[in-house]
Amino acid sequence: MNLSIQAVRGMHDIIPSEAYYWQRLETVWQALAARYGYQEIRLPIVEIAPLFQRSVGEYTDIVEKETYTFVDRNGEALTLRPEGTAGCVRAVIEHHLLKQDPIQRLWYGGPMFRHERPQKGRHRQFHQIGVEVFGLSAVECEVELLLLISRFWKGLELEDVCGRLEINCLGSEEERFRYKESLVNYFKKYISHLDESSQNRIKKNPLRILDSKEPKVIELLKNAPLISDYWKIETRQKFERIIALLKSSNLAYTFNPYLVRGLDYYTDFVFEWVTHRLGAQGAVCAGGRYDHLVKALGGPATPAVGFAIGLERIILLLKDKIKNPGAKFDVAILSLGEKAQEQGLLLAEILRDQLPGLHVVSMLGGSALKSQLRKADKWGAYWALILGESELEKKEITVKCLREPFEQQSISLKEVIKLLDQHLHKNLK
Ligand code: HAM
Repeated sequence: MNLSIQAVRGMHDIIPSEAYYWQRLETVWQALAARYGYQEIRLPIVEIAPLFQRSVGEYTDIVEKETYTFVDRNGEALTLRPEGTAGCVRAVIEHHLLKQDPIQRLWYGGPMFRHERPQKGRHRQFHQIGVEVFGLSAVECEVELLLLISRFWKGLELEDVCGRLEINCLGSEEERFRYKESLVNYFKKYISHLDESSQNRIKKNPLRILDSKEPKVIELLKNAPLISDYWKIETRQKFERIIALLKSSNLAYTFNPYLVRGLDYYTDFVFEWVTHRLGAQGAVCAGGRYDHLVKALGGPATPAVGFAIGLERIILLLKDKIKNPGAKFDVAILSLGEKAQEQGLLLAEILRDQLPGLHVVSMLGGSALKSQLRKADKWGAYWALILGESELEKKEITVKCLREPFEQQSISLKEVIKLLDQHLHKNLK
């Protein structure tokens, strides 16, 4: 019997060789969110179960089949959050944030949990960065979010692989109601040809039929009514205004009248960014407007719009693009002999004092020079500073560059600091 314990299926460790990509993503995101005036909010991972039934929706796949819900020691039903919007709205109401300022631009990040069938880009614990804006009904807000996302792809140098932006509008409540009616009437004629899950969708949540993967349904959808046929003038004008703004911002988009979202709170504009590089799990970012949710959860009537990015999917794209992340730190200090090892430790501290931006690692293993050099290279050092007996005698340090042509030389500490200072400034540019 194999007794070794492994991580839960669909839940993954992020080991150090992967952490580089996560850190890069998080650094770019945090700087960008600040540039747009979005503030971070940190939310619990566990919420009471009814929160998701009342927001994501009772008859959605997420709530019906995918949540991790358990009864805690007090007998209360709790759910590991499957997404961040519901918790964010709960927190905004609970802390009266809209009283402090009726406009809130917030972001959050962290793990989400859905009991789905794991595959490439689909996990049971996955991570999102999400943004929620409260108190703004102007369509410029939708476009600001789309521009922010597009700038994020650029910041990660992924703009050519993140795919295309698809947009749609689910209309007002009344328009949606009339559309659902006509969709149900249309599919009723074919109900006996449909599989059980599609029949259920028609009964419980007819809009979900639009993103069915069943070939029979896809065929039938070709002649099905479209939501856009039910838009009234005001909805149409708003959608056209978004399109005009996208055009003037040079942001490419595709209108997809079949785009509906797997969560019930959306009310109007919805979008997804879809790449073809990840097979079936191509949606890297998704969101839309949800003007009724704050009120439905007990807060003041407040327009709201937001999105979430699936980080594992972005990491897959990043890894594909950056095969060799390059130097991971600036300096490795290699020492030969006990005395040099002691001096190496002190030298590392001097460098950390003098050049606070510098990343310095001391090789404290005491092995042969060749093996220390191999390790420094493998770990991703840019410079190797070597201390041996002769260096200690001459009060010099031998400098070798592991990443670019550079003639190895033995120089004084002062010169080493000057060289590393230049290196830091070059990297900051
Ligand atoms: P969502 O479409 O359910 O929306 O998820 C957003 C993104 O999370 C997806 O586009 C995908 O990249 C990623 N994702 C979802 N499920 C998984 C999974 N099992 N494994 C890996 N990645 C996954 C929401 O969650 C909404 N809260 C977005 C939102 C915020 N709308 C308004 N505000």
